[in-house]
Amino acid sequence: MELFSTQTLLLFLSFLTFLYLHNRNPKTRPPGFKAYPLVGSLPDFLLNRHRFLDWTTDVLRNCPTHSAVFRRPGKVHGIITANPDNVEHILKTNFHNYPKGERFNYLLRDFLGQGIFNSDGDLWKLQRKTASYEFNTKSLRNFAIQNVTVEIQTRLIPLLQRASKSESVLDLQDVLERFAFDNICKLAFNVDPACLDGGSGDAAVGAEFMRAFEDAATLSSGRFMSVFGWVWELKKFLNVGSERKLRESICTVHAFADNIIRSRMEAKDPHNDDMDLLSRFMAKEENSPEFLRDIVISFILAGRDTTSSALSWFFWILSSRPDVKDKIIKEIETVRASCEKRDYGEASFGYEELKELKYLHAAITESMRLYPPVHVDTMACLNDDVLPDGTGIKKNWFVTYHTYAMGRMESIWGSDCVEFKPERWFDEEGGVFRTESPFRYPVFHAGARMCLGKEMAYIQMKSIVAAAMERFEIDAVDKDTCPEQHMSLTLRIKGGLPVRVRPRECVMSTA
Ligand code: HEM
Ligand SMILES: *[C@@H]1O[C@H](CO)[C@@H](O)[C@H](O)[C@H]1NC(C)=O
Repeated sequence: MELFSTQTLLLFLSFLTFLYLHNRNPKTRPPGFKAYPLVGSLPDFLLNRHRFLDWTTDVLRNCPTHSAVFRRPGKVHGIITANPDNVEHILKTNFHNYPKGERFNYLLRDFLGQGIFNSDGDLWKLQRKTASYEFNTKSLRNFAIQNVTVEIQTRLIPLLQRASKSESVLDLQDVLERFAFDNICKLAFNVDPACLDGGSGDAAVGAEFMRAFEDAATLSSGRFMSVFGWVWELKKFLNVGSERKLRESICTVHAFADNIIRSRMEAKDPHNDDMDLLSRFMAKEENSPEFLRDIVISFILAGRDTTSSALSWFFWILSSRPDVKDKIIKEIETVRASCEKRDYGEASFGYEELKELKYLHAAITESMRLYPPVHVDTMACLNDDVLPDGTGIKKNWFVTYHTYAMGRMESIWGSDCVEFKPERWFDEEGGVFRTESPFRYPVFHAGARMCLGKEMAYIQMKSIVAAAMERFEIDAVDKDTCPEQHMSLTLRIKGGLPVRVRPRECVMSTA
């Protein structure tokens, strides 16, 4: 995603040269983000944006309380923090002072309307209440497990089988993204876009929906990056360029969702045990079709490319860790051996079996510590405040907690913080999973707005990994080079993750 146009870049580069000539003693600079007159921290940002997360991690690591003020051009300032006490304060203790805020709401409103992801206050509370009740039902969990199983059995395994036969290189990130999209659409409104299928009848419509959804998400978040807010507003007014494309993709997404909602309303079926999220929201309130659409779109956005991001990094890490792979395989074999009964067919694991895959759970959790799908998250500050570490924050500033940096802080994880070590998630005896405070590990957010899909996400991720690793050997083509990061709404691998797939040597008799 382009953060700034070339002209702006050139302008700032010449400005930088000027500043560097005037910068006498760079050795004694204080910790934190360097701020220049007028342009604030922007010059350093531009110099480092290709390694944004590692740069900001380095800066925060060197600050005494792991928080720093970031100055944007003009009066927009904010705090970036990797301090668990500050995170607890923002997300829980003083939650009401840190909403998503007007700016966030405004920029995403065309796409997300007033869905849960893009609302504060009562509108948010209403959706949160219904959703958190529904997310905790056994019936939704079963719905999810069954849909995941079908996707694995009928699409993922055949696809990996084809790749292993032809010995071709596969973009695993792309496969995982299409899997997740199919999955979240089934969960949200029981529609199968068949994006992972490629061949079937409805695949074209589904693929178009997925592409439009992706464009709408990327282009909407692009608005945050525009240096001058009025540029996108002018483009929107004139209906040109990126704003025209955004309008078109939003149109496609809305039409797709409206269609489903309309037909569902006509065929209202009041009692149905296998209810998707849409039916659950339809049953609860007198919600207008537009509001239902906003709700559903927010859920698709939230569940769409988080799990695929997590698993892409996971498979990359595992490629150079045969020791961890072996342990995962052993655990799968043990669980397979102890569970005679197959609730949902051969390919996948039932809820109880998934629960037994503890080492796998730890390995995925550990991988997200180093590569959190939601790498940073930003809130607005309503009124002047002082954070627990003493940092002052002013009304209208932004505050960002830096999940990626937090996973790499010695103060939180100890001196081996940058090592991938699933064992750290178990207690001394190695048996019991150690729960970590969500304020120290805010991968799923924390406090009142904590992720609703966490359990669902683990079900999906563990099912995919277990089914794939049981049958195949999956290795990144370039396992020794850390992939370049692509920061979209989630942290993705730039250019995808090319892998080779081979059948696993001693496949168990159950396969
Ligand atoms: C590994 C996978 C996932 C991760 C790391 C993750 C992480 C997060 C984070 C950091 C937030 C807070 C975002 C914010 O409000 O700024 C969030 C919110 C949310 N997530 Fe997830 N998520 C994952 C998967 C899912 C899935 C699969 C679903 C749906 C099925 C989901 C549903 C939601 C919803 C509805 C919210 C909004 C909650 C609210 O605002 O009250 N998430 N998630
Ligand atoms: C998802 O699973 C439920 C429960 O088994 C089933 O009724 C539904 O048809 C599935 N949805 C899709 C789109 O396959």
